[in-house]
Amino acid sequence: MDKRLIAPGRIIVTAGPTIEPIDPVRYISNYSTGTMGYEIAASGVAHGYDVVLISGPVSLIPPEGVSFQRVTTAGEMKAKVTEELDKCDCIIMSAAVCDFSPEKKEEQKIKKKEKLVLTLKKNPDILKEISTREDILKIGFALETENERANGKKKLKEKNLDLIVVNIKTPEKDPFGEGEKDFLFFYKDGGEKEIKKATKRQIAEIIINEIGEMHKK
Ligand code: CTP
Repeated sequence: MDKRLIAPGRIIVTAGPTIEPIDPVRYISNYSTGTMGYEIAASGVAHGYDVVLISGPVSLIPPEGVSFQRVTTAGEMKAKVTEELDKCDCIIMSAAVCDFSPEKKEEQKIKKKEKLVLTLKKNPDILKEISTREDILKIGFALETENERANGKKKLKEKNLDLIVVNIKTPEKDPFGEGEKDFLFFYKDGGEKEIKKATKRQIAEIIINEIGEMHKK
């Protein structure tokens, strides 16, 4: 059976960071603002798709018309994705899922001391775990600080994605938040393209249009 998306299909979009608690008042996380995922979700709704937005903690207002699911940790995000996956035709993982979480969440606030050693354990890789789902269109993002082409292609293959969108973070280039950014697209069939100085809204429109194109292939 060919897996392609016929509008109005149902899309999962994940967005924002996950946060992983250390104790009741502290956590580890990353700088994701959620902008990319919220733009994709808004664009999906505008194009007639049924959008489930699964978001980590961000300060953005969910776009009108999405089915909104708020999560905190990588574990919670995985649980929500698993719950929604069978009802969906496509997943766009723009969330910056924390790869690690503290092995133990302390029940009480950790008191000040000279030195504190935290042990982190590996979190589930949500996209990797669903990589055998050939019936679903799978789109990932990658944030790289070096070797962005090689690393992007490696992730595309390892996670069995249809498309991966790569951002680069260097001292000169900051992919977080709003403004114009540079993006690299790598496709399952070996195709690629570079889009320079585009806003996240423009990139969201391109991705949503490409989903429509992919279903026709
Ligand atoms: N991702 C995921 N689960 C994770 C980590 C990442 O589903 N635990 C997804 C992200 O949402 C993104 C893609 O996998 O779509 C690539 O994420 P990225 O953080 O760039 O790559 P990692 O696989 O975590 O590899 P590394 O951090 O080692 O570069």
